Amino acid sequence: MANPPFEIKPNQSASFVVWNHTSVTPEVRAQSLGQQPRCIWFTGLSGSGKSTLANALEVALQRAGIHTMLLDGDNVRHGLCKDLGMTAEDRNENIRRVGETARLMVDAGLVVIAAFISPFREERARARELFGPGQFFEVYLQTSLAVCEARDPKGLYRMARSGKIADFTGIDSPYEVPDSPEVLLDTAAHDVDTLVMQLLSRAFPERWPS
Ligand code: ADX
Repeated sequence: MANPPFEIKPNQSASFVVWNHTSVTPEVRAQSLGQQPRCIWFTGLSGSGKSTLANALEVALQRAGIHTMLLDGDNVRHGLCKDLGMTAEDRNENIRRVGETARLMVDAGLVVIAAFISPFREERARARELFGPGQFFEVYLQTSLAVCEARDPKGLYRMARSGKIADFTGIDSPYEVPDSPEVLLDTAAHDVDTLVMQLLSRAFPERWPS
């Protein structure tokens, strides 16, 4: 019997997947929602204020009639990423999945807000590459470890210091500070409303000119 020309192993099948072109494009979807989709990506230590600010930003955008979706680290880890832990490898896979999900939602026409520690520069850069020019806004919450640890809203820093949690960001797992984020916010110096206004004018200048 003649040998088949090639053998397809299950984990190689992706190499034979093509792009199907759709009649309704991301541009058409954005137009039908009447908005310019983009991804606002919060990065910073645990307790730096990512979830609080992401939530306040989404409220402000919804009040202005903008269609949004919020992807939050703790929430996503209950579903899409529930099989992942906190090793560097698992965090990278977490950010890869979330980046791809955010990209799909931007293609659907939404303004996506992502709030993840996302501690590694390379993975944040990989997420950025998924988006078109001007569609990805990296927002660095420059809250010091001392401030985050004093806040300790979930009691996790205390547990990490006493050795009950391993690989804790800022304690025994690194956080790589962004080189050139689109927006840098000081959560220790300003209240939430002020920070949201700063964000709106930076990331949505066409709607909130400064
Ligand atoms: S990331 O590093 O992969 O981007 P992600 O934002 O999804 O992290 O999840 C962080 C959340 O998980 C934190 O807000 C915190 O509540 C919780 N958490 C549990 N274990 C750890 C840990 N070892 N380091 C940091 N956060 C942790």
